[in-house]
Amino acid sequence: MNDWIIYGANGYTGELIARAAVAAGLRPRLAGRNAAAIRTLANTLGLPFTICRLEDREGLHQALQGAQVVLHCAGPFQETSAPMVEACLQTGVHYLDITGEISVFEAAAKQDAAARRTGVMLMPGVGFDVVPSDCLAAHLARRLPEATSLALAFRTFGSISRGTAITMLTMTTRGCERRNGQLIITPPLHEVRMFDFGRGPQPCVSIPWGDVATAYYTTGIPNIKTFVAIPRRAQRWFSLARQLLPIVQLPTIRAGLRHLLARTLHGPDATTRATGRSIIVGEVTDTTGRCATSRLTCPEGYTLTVQTALLIVQRVLNGHTTAGFHTPAGLYGPDLICEVPGVTRSDE
Ligand SMILES: NC(=O)c1ccc[n+]([C@@H]2O[C@H](COP(=O)([O-])OP(=O)(O)OC[C@H]3O[C@@H](n4cnc5c(N)ncnc54)[C@H](OP(=O)(O)O)[C@@H]3O)[C@@H](O)[C@H]2O)c1
Repeated sequence: MNDWIIYGANGYTGELIARAAVAAGLRPRLAGRNAAAIRTLANTLGLPFTICRLEDREGLHQALQGAQVVLHCAGPFQETSAPMVEACLQTGVHYLDITGEISVFEAAAKQDAAARRTGVMLMPGVGFDVVPSDCLAAHLARRLPEATSLALAFRTFGSISRGTAITMLTMTTRGCERRNGQLIITPPLHEVRMFDFGRGPQPCVSIPWGDVATAYYTTGIPNIKTFVAIPRRAQRWFSLARQLLPIVQLPTIRAGLRHLLARTLHGPDATTRATGRSIIVGEVTDTTGRCATSRLTCPEGYTLTVQTALLIVQRVLNGHTTAGFHTPAGLYGPDLICEVPGVTRSDE
């Protein structure tokens, strides 16, 4: 029997993945720092469990012994991924996570040589960000191999979990895009641009989404920007929200907001997860002005995260791994996302 671990299994997304894994006939070992919550969930699902803190280096190494792969679901990952990556490299366990944070991808990319040496695969970003968008970027690069610029825009329907909200709060301090292959820090939410998600142009604002890091490794395209649709009901308030950003960045306000989000957000309910949709539009251009646009319509973001994470876990358990740092589409190709039920892709 394959031994694999979901760390942070008691979180909103970790629990969804654990339940879906069991429904798919898999038997992950549940892990995390919250003994009561992990034990209760493991007993409910009839799964083995391990309690360990990320700060306990030895305990973490021990917990990973014998496992084939860890699916790390405890975020924000800029606070949690480094000790888990280190433990995976030390114990020869493959590492997957569901981050969408640029700094986490870049840190994992820097461990490429160490991962190759130890025969470990490091693949952050096996959730909604970045699997579909990474596949879309790779598909567009396939359509226009000379592309020099890529823009990706996301539109999701439905609410977000507290973990996502807290992680997104960390993204409001500054923007980031890729120019000539380099990561460039920009003011937060600084560019507004129109994208068509299928019902005419809609305003979208630049955000530092993980693809600024990953799409470069997948496609080699040197200029990359990522955007998110401004919901129609929020468009009136958008200018005001932008003006308030400096206040949100004050440490005491941020701490208060983080506390508030942790207490009030519970994530989308089962109906929203079953009926919601997400749409990603990608555009590439080359230096002669040629361009290509493609669009992916996908299940709701958390539903898709569960599907893509388990799809990739199963690949790893089946031995489809390569040592080193990899992006999802970089290793498994642009059509990986088409294996997920409910996903459609169209080209313009
Ligand atoms: N890329 C994507 O598409 C995607 C999709 C879904 C989620 N995510 C990301 O996944 C993360 C989790 O989201 P969520 O909705 O599941 O959040 P959540 O419900 O708040 O759960 C967070 C989990 O992380 C654990 N955790 C947090 N900090 C930890 C630390 N320092 N050490 C050990 N465990 C720690 C928590 O454990 P305790 O209970 O002990 O606090 C809990 O198990 C977020 O960063 C979110 O942005 C990404």
